[in-house]
Amino acid sequence: MVELTSRGLLPGESSWPTGVKHLPLVIGPAQSLSAESMTSLLRDQRAWVLGQLTTHGAILLRGTPYREAAHFVDVMNALGLDYRAYPHLTDNYRRPVVEGVVNASSTEAPLPVPPHTEQAFSSVRPGVLGFMCLQRAPQGGQTPLHDCVNAYRELTPATKEMLQGAFFCKVTDQMSEEAVRSNFNTLDRAEIDQICKKFDLEWSWNGGKLSFVTKGPCVVTHPMTGETAFSCFWTVPSIHYFFRNYHGVPGADRKMAMLCRVVPLSAFDFILRNCVPFFRRNYRYFLFKDGKRLDVSLEMHTELNAVIWKNTTVFEWQPGDILMIDNIKVGHSRMPFVPPRHVVASVCNYYDARERRVEAPASRSSPDTEKHSPDRSAYTA
Ligand SMILES: [Fe+2]
Repeated sequence: MVELTSRGLLPGESSWPTGVKHLPLVIGPAQSLSAESMTSLLRDQRAWVLGQLTTHGAILLRGTPYREAAHFVDVMNALGLDYRAYPHLTDNYRRPVVEGVVNASSTEAPLPVPPHTEQAFSSVRPGVLGFMCLQRAPQGGQTPLHDCVNAYRELTPATKEMLQGAFFCKVTDQMSEEAVRSNFNTLDRAEIDQICKKFDLEWSWNGGKLSFVTKGPCVVTHPMTGETAFSCFWTVPSIHYFFRNYHGVPGADRKMAMLCRVVPLSAFDFILRNCVPFFRRNYRYFLFKDGKRLDVSLEMHTELNAVIWKNTTVFEWQPGDILMIDNIKVGHSRMPFVPPRHVVASVCNYYDARERRVEAPASRSSPDTEKHSPDRSAYTA
């Protein structure tokens, strides 16, 4: 009988080893298999695979026979993941590849997607993420992974205190019709209102345009392991930190790299948030705690970014790789790249981070889990 084997990254597979050696756990078949047989094996070993995901925070299915997005869907079905198309709650349009699977970030190739836990700006967020590499970039384009539990542990007491009980909030303003349809799969206002309510958004309509504010806790407790993790999302300082420290990586925007090296963070933050349309639109965020906005010092931003990158590892994609991430324990980013690159993504198993519960994929049908499950109808877009 063919079995699944597991190991850490081999030296040649890790392009950027840092302090984190345990991400991701690499899982593959002991011998080559057809796509059908591999999926069947994953279905049979589902409890073990999901257990590894919870323990390690990220698993990389490598050496697979998979080459199409449809195979990715088969794997998610085999693992019992709920990958229905949920609203991503931003005004970026994401083109669906197949139902429930979209192209990964549309952020331009020369820019990084800074470290984040998916939809950390929303309390209702994915518990699990999936990525599949259909075409690796000639250079760059890796998906770095960072350990959110270690990162939280290594923050200074003052930063921990600031983050405890704080929410990361994001303003999405005057959405385009295309973005509304991409998020909600409808243009019907009553339906959209219902979804906004279920996602606990503050939303408004102005001249037929939808705007909303989302908020998600910065510090969460993992409902299955009890670990405390730091959830983060993109900030302008995270762009500045990236280009200051990693300006030489393949495909990186040379002008931005130069700007970040000569302009101090305070000026860079002001310029991007006020004068550059892309950042003005996409980087409208603030921290909220005890009924008021928090001013986060730039030094604290630098500390957060330093701790995250210290706890990051970067592996090289191979075509057919499928990466599953526990979106509570592990955050991710995307390196700049030289096109083309084709990585698809899916967000699964939404849960409410405020209530510190998640629907465990391995025991979704157990009576105890059902009793504490969120209203599944809340998360249907
Ligand atoms: Fe992401």
